[in-house]
Amino acid sequence: MITGIEVLKFGVENRQEANTFLADFGLTQKASDLENADLYQTQNGSKIYLFDLDDARLPPAIEAGSTLREVTWGVENEQDFAQLKANLENEPGFVALADQVQCRDPNGMTIVFSKTITHAVETAKTEGINQYGNIQRVNAASPVYEKAEPVDIGHVVFFTPDLATTQAFYIEKLGFHLSDAYRNRGAFLRCRGEGFHHDLFLLSIPNKPAGLNHVAFVVRDIHEVIGGGLSMNRQSWSTFIGPGRHPISSAYFWYVNSPLGGAFEYYTNDDYLTEAWQPREEEHRLELFTEWAIEGGLDHETRRQVKSN
Ligand SMILES: [Fe+2]
Repeated sequence: MITGIEVLKFGVENRQEANTFLADFGLTQKASDLENADLYQTQNGSKIYLFDLDDARLPPAIEAGSTLREVTWGVENEQDFAQLKANLENEPGFVALADQVQCRDPNGMTIVFSKTITHAVETAKTEGINQYGNIQRVNAASPVYEKAEPVDIGHVVFFTPDLATTQAFYIEKLGFHLSDAYRNRGAFLRCRGEGFHHDLFLLSIPNKPAGLNHVAFVVRDIHEVIGGGLSMNRQSWSTFIGPGRHPISSAYFWYVNSPLGGAFEYYTNDDYLTEAWQPREEEHRLELFTEWAIEGGLDHETRRQVKSN
């Protein structure tokens, strides 16, 4: 069984700026096991590597400039590798090692399957929300975060010019499940029957070539989404959009423009689905992207919306 995204490799134009961004975003720098590449981790051990844009060890890019070059998905056991090898052997870029399988998806992104490396993270019990009829926090204050410390890599989102082919590949070859869809425009996919709303979102915009839209990191609660976004604004990184809430997936989010390509997202409180969930298909429209959202972010001094001049 595929467990989720565990390693992301980026090729970037400016490694120094990208290093600062990842540290400010709340990821932890580790001694890199790869020469001339920087390594950051989430709390659960997921990895983010930074390479120079033209590093020959990186697979081909799906777009020009700084972007994501390789996605590694965690796999649970030996039977899964055998199944993956059988399913993917005719795909472009197919390579099979004892404990690793890789190929390129129809969008051109190199995807790797490797034994899972992440671990569960204990979180404090003060993070509950008190709602009518459901008291989760007693004699304890709700936390305020100075900055975020992302727990996990949650999902990636790609622009794909051929949505039908890419979506069919993930469902038929890799066993992904469709969670929800924008008619002919987008597919929210989860890698397991039971799990959070999406590990992968494929978005098709007319005349838009393949590319990275964003990568998203799970944080502990709504307060960490806000604390993380405020902290990034304080450190002079710009908000793309956030805070806000997606009606599809129910997640609270904050997206920050990233020098690694696309945006980096903090999110929490997404829907948890089982095989009993029936995917919804809707027209692609603004009300389904955001129930509400703040464009440009919040000013950390006034705690109010950034005013555009
Ligand atoms: Fe997202």
